[in-house]
Amino acid sequence: MLIHESTLELSGVSKQYPTPRGQLTVLADISLALKPGEAAAIMGPSGSGKSTLLYIAGALEAPSRGEVRLDGIDPYRINEREAAEFRGEKVGFVFQDHCLLPQCTVLENVLVPALVAKNPAAYRKRAQELLGQVGLADRLDHLPAELSGGEKQRVALARALIRSPRLLLCDEPTGNLDEASAATVADLLLELHARKETMLMVVTHNPALAARFPRCYELRHANLQPVGP
Ligand SMILES: Nc1ncnc2c1ncn2[C@@H]1O[C@H](COP(=O)(O)OP(=O)(O)OP(=O)(O)O)[C@@H](O)[C@H]1O
Ligand SMILES: [Mg+2]
Repeated sequence: MLIHESTLELSGVSKQYPTPRGQLTVLADISLALKPGEAAAIMGPSGSGKSTLLYIAGALEAPSRGEVRLDGIDPYRINEREAAEFRGEKVGFVFQDHCLLPQCTVLENVLVPALVAKNPAAYRKRAQELLGQVGLADRLDHLPAELSGGEKQRVALARALIRSPRLLLCDEPTGNLDEASAATVADLLLELHARKETMLMVVTHNPALAARFPRCYELRHANLQPVGP
């Protein structure tokens, strides 16, 4: 089968977790494809497997069955060192709890993914530019504890974009934000994405955010269903 050089393809992906009461099926036979420049929102109740799906797509958590391919490569069929490099180069991840390093400044946090790149020093200017784009040019030396929730989310977004990933995965990037801050983060996300040949998957509980995406899915009972017009 010919696989497009730069697509994300999930085919027949299932995920079970062992529990004391037997196997818990979180994802059952899920297939999804994204091409460069395509964006999809994923909605669904708490515990339905949205974060799990993003982890699997982002080479962070192996599926129990099925295949993941990004740029033609299955990250779960290469060795751990290659997979870590692959992830660093290809995937940007905005985690649900943003996971900023508390002891590092805003600028240092954004530079973390670049530490393992071949030429980390080259990223400093880009980090400053990205922080400017997310409206934090005057917060470079702040620690995460000195930022608001929305500002932290914007730092996490800049960090996810520092290596110009092929695939940008955002897990509730507007969670816990008021409407205005959520709209600002959403604007940034769609604007940054529109300028790139990136593939974007965003998990959200926010119907207003989901409605701004050309494709929207709902995860329920371990299945992914398209929703929308
Ligand atoms: N390591 C694990 N072992 C066992 N069960 C797990 C594990 N990780 C997640 N789960 C279970 O898998 C289900 C899906 O979890 P997941 O975090 O993907 O949900 P979610 O849709 O992102 O929820 P939320 O909207 O609350 O973030 C949950 O029921 C969770 O308890
Ligand atoms: Mg989640």
